[in-house]
Amino acid sequence: MSRIPFEQLPADVRQAVVDKTGSVHATETVRGGMNSGIASVLGTESGSVFVKGIPTDHPQAGAQRREAAIAPHLPASCPGLYWHLELDGWSLLGYEVVNGRHADYTPGSPDLPLVEAALTELQQLKAPADIEIKDAVDRWANYAPRGTLHYFGGDTLLHTDFAPDNVLIVGERARLVDWAWPTRGAAWIDPGALALRLMEAGHPAEAAVAIAEHFPSWRGAERDALAAFGVATTALWREIAEGAETPWTRNMAEHAKALAHAIGGGL
Ligand SMILES: Nc1ncnc2c1ncn2[C@@H]1O[C@H](COP(=O)(O)OP(=O)(O)OP(=O)(O)O)[C@@H](O)[C@H]1O
Ligand SMILES: [Mg+2]
Repeated sequence: MSRIPFEQLPADVRQAVVDKTGSVHATETVRGGMNSGIASVLGTESGSVFVKGIPTDHPQAGAQRREAAIAPHLPASCPGLYWHLELDGWSLLGYEVVNGRHADYTPGSPDLPLVEAALTELQQLKAPADIEIKDAVDRWANYAPRGTLHYFGGDTLLHTDFAPDNVLIVGERARLVDWAWPTRGAAWIDPGALALRLMEAGHPAEAAVAIAEHFPSWRGAERDALAAFGVATTALWREIAEGAETPWTRNMAEHAKALAHAIGGGL
């Protein structure tokens, strides 16, 4: 959806933000991402805050609520959530500002080890038991080849959306943002999701798989599980590309196919 500046939010919504932060003296809309109807860094009486928001009748409003629910369970590489507001048709999240830039995923980029370090930290975490969270088995149910869905099950907390504009680089650290799709599942899924995004940035499939192999979860996974992931990812991106015919979706569908081939040639 198109992104509006903070000033165009309804007055009562802006006032609710001011009630949280103190007066707002500067606003800047940020680039990156698709769904947020507002994504702004605010300078406020109490310091800076990143505000992302979406209309409550938007299909992704549920994703924003999931993001709020998972926030207290995230590792230190993720910015802290200060508050969550819902009023007058808007759902807003106020976060600690990460003064960084989007990660560069191109081959040889010095950001890659930093991204790997952030994902390695994340891989140690179990999905919290006390909040509702998507299950990888459900998310891949329509895409996994028959008889392979059980491989996707597990209790690791997964991010699953490693678009480079969801990874902000600050100094020597990568910080994972945009937890719209937190998922409970097999740990190797996140390295696989990262591999596809690396291909989007120019890594040949074999090189992307070699980076996934840096993660113990991927190295330790059964070959059939990884092959099932390749096939399921191909089916998922084929569906996305058929639903929204754009050069980008077609390109991602091609990458998914090549990834599946490099992983194990399919089942
Ligand atoms: N804590 C933060 N501090 C500074 N900038 C941030 C922060 N979190 C995200 N951003 C920037 O805002 C952009 C959009 O945020 P985010 O990725 O969370 O939402 P989105 O992709 O628009 O939404 P959705 O997840 O609903 O698709 C990011 O690409 C990033 O550049
Ligand atoms: Mg995003």
